[in-house]
Amino acid sequence: MSILIKNGRIITAESDYIADLYIEGESIQAIGKNLNYTADKTIDASGKLVFPGGIDPHVHLDMPFMGTSSSDDYETGTRAALHGGTTTVIDFILQTQGDTLHNALETWQKKSRGKAIGDYSYHMAVTDFNDAVAKEVVQLIEQEGITSFKTFMAYKGALMIDDGQMVQLMKVVKKHGGLVTVHATNGDMIDSLIAKHRSEGKLSPLYHYLSQPEVTEAEASGRFADMLEYTGCPGYIVHMTCEGALNAIRRATTRNQKVFVETCSQYLVLDASLYEDDFEGAKWVMSPPLREKKDQVALWSGINQGLIQVVGTDHCPFMWEQKKMGKDDFSKIPNGHPAIEHRMELMYTEGVGKGKISLNKFVEVTSTNAAKIFGMYPRKGTIAIGADADIVIFDPNKKHQLSVETHHMNVDYSGYEGWELTGKCETVLLRGNVAIEDETCHLKAGFGQFVSRGKTSLTI
Ligand code: URP
Ligand code: ZN
Ligand code: ZN
Repeated sequence: MSILIKNGRIITAESDYIADLYIEGESIQAIGKNLNYTADKTIDASGKLVFPGGIDPHVHLDMPFMGTSSSDDYETGTRAALHGGTTTVIDFILQTQGDTLHNALETWQKKSRGKAIGDYSYHMAVTDFNDAVAKEVVQLIEQEGITSFKTFMAYKGALMIDDGQMVQLMKVVKKHGGLVTVHATNGDMIDSLIAKHRSEGKLSPLYHYLSQPEVTEAEASGRFADMLEYTGCPGYIVHMTCEGALNAIRRATTRNQKVFVETCSQYLVLDASLYEDDFEGAKWVMSPPLREKKDQVALWSGINQGLIQVVGTDHCPFMWEQKKMGKDDFSKIPNGHPAIEHRMELMYTEGVGKGKISLNKFVEVTSTNAAKIFGMYPRKGTIAIGADADIVIFDPNKKHQLSVETHHMNVDYSGYEGWELTGKCETVLLRGNVAIEDETCHLKAGFGQFVSRGKTSLTI
């Protein structure tokens, strides 16, 4: 199969120009003006933006969590991602405490093989660190192409490791060229606030938010940075939400430390006023919770200052019936938010459209930096000769509305019902194949491939 894309405005993290793209097989073969190739398919991209397929490095597909499982599996989740211009996702494997990393890997391979439509990779969440696990970490880096290791400083008893385990893990990961990522919130502080609110009969979703004040995230982010500084390990903070946590990383830069930071689209566009004192607020019960307007300002600035390199989603959807597990107690509401489909279009409308970020920055934070940090660049994350032809042809003027009636995620509500967006992913290619056209997915379950990853190549 060959595809010629004519006259598109090609945007990468560094460049912006009008040209043609010629794709043969799975990769980009030629870029230039007036390319003279005969292709199986020609797409006129005049007036359209052409940018690299999005990479969402923070999704939870078919993940057992809080007594239930996230409602998108690899098929529905990666299909929804493709509709929204995201061609590659990185999901989290969860080690079961007391069990091996390899058993967890096998479990996730069964969930994804033959099911994924889009390309995918895995982070390994280490929830129980010991000498045997240390050996497995090395094997994952050297033999499986899994180079990032997720840790939790919260969710005690299920996912959390202590600071001693964290430091030991960092030492092994550093030695073998990997990266430690973290859910940075102070789990003990949060657990005690949850207990206090429950004992006072304060049980609505609002108290989920009030149990995780900004200081719980700021403290843990600073502590994580200190442990990275001590061990020399490269690190990445997932789903940062607030000014206090960002300032902890800003302070770390004054000792010339470099810590990668991700925020998520919901923290840039939604705020804590959604936690009204009724159960509707459960739609936005996620951890960390939504924050204040001043935090949104800090996060957008952090992106432009280069302190935040990546915008992901932390996509972790639950059906309304599942959210209702916490109808009478906020601490039982499964934490998570559906967003995999909307990240690129939200970032375009709210970021580029409202003048908060440039088009190049948009590509950098939705695709290129994730590819570099997580060892997939330049195969993924850019438009260049030899790169995978993962491409979005984007109509910057098309207006549309977000709704549960039209989204493709397997979840029966939308956190963005009725939102008006300007700019739509019109055609999406994955490795030179038409994935999305005419609002239809043309690829089948099993098309998605596992992406084996290498070392970080981003310097900040
Ligand atoms: O609320 C969230 N974020 N759910 C998914 C698990 C996590 O902490 O990322
Ligand atoms: Zn988390
Ligand atoms: Zn997450």
